[in-house]
Amino acid sequence: MRRPIVAGNWKMHGTRAENARLIEELTSRFPDQSAAECLVCPPFVYLQEVGRMLRDTPIGLGAQDVCAEAQGAFTGEVSAAMLKDVGCGNVIVGHSERRWIYHESDQLVARKFAAVQAKSLAPILCVGEQLSEREQGRTEEVVARQLDAVLSLCGVGALESGVIAYEPVWAIGTGHTATPEQAQQVHAFIRERIAARDAKIALGTRILYGGSIKPGNAGELFSQPDVDGGLIGGASLKAEEFLAILAAAGSR
Ligand code: PGA
Repeated sequence: MRRPIVAGNWKMHGTRAENARLIEELTSRFPDQSAAECLVCPPFVYLQEVGRMLRDTPIGLGAQDVCAEAQGAFTGEVSAAMLKDVGCGNVIVGHSERRWIYHESDQLVARKFAAVQAKSLAPILCVGEQLSEREQGRTEEVVARQLDAVLSLCGVGALESGVIAYEPVWAIGTGHTATPEQAQQVHAFIRERIAARDAKIALGTRILYGGSIKPGNAGELFSQPDVDGGLIGGASLKAEEFLAILAAAGSR
């Protein structure tokens, strides 16, 4: 049985005061027992402080990105070792905003995935097609290419501790959620593609959906057999919404 995950991607939002308020609201109202795993991914500069607030709570800490290099003269970059040092357990790699706005290639994303695993952190690999690619019937081709880049570099064994997030680009921050059927179809495709390399690993790999998840649509999305939770953007900044989504994942 795969334990669902609900991960909050705060993106470039927040101030120290807002973060403190959000964490206070989340921790004070966090359920005594959550069947779903929960984590938040604040911007780099706030990781250490938010991590301190989360100590001794059931909420984990993740980062939104990482440098593919281990260390050295890479101005402005942050290494996986640094993320581990400040208490991160997870790192998002290949978010569509990194791929499309900052032109990160499949190969670079795969190297980031490897860098995260080399430090025994759990990567959350984002994959997903743009609207034009879906309209051209190329969704599976695009997702397969993004996934294969990681499988080729790191091997299927790398997914034992890794998580995948299917995030159709057209659904992110737009209010246009994929239908549960659309999500399930791509999730099943991803699982089958992993199964072609290793059936046991495929069964255990958690595949999250991301893109305009709200309390009102979370339950239906999470009830799909291959949807193992969600990567939440906008709704993760509101404690009430994020906790409602967590509850939906937990009662799956
Ligand atoms: P959204 O973002 O929930 O605001 O659509 C999801 C994401 O980008 O991870």
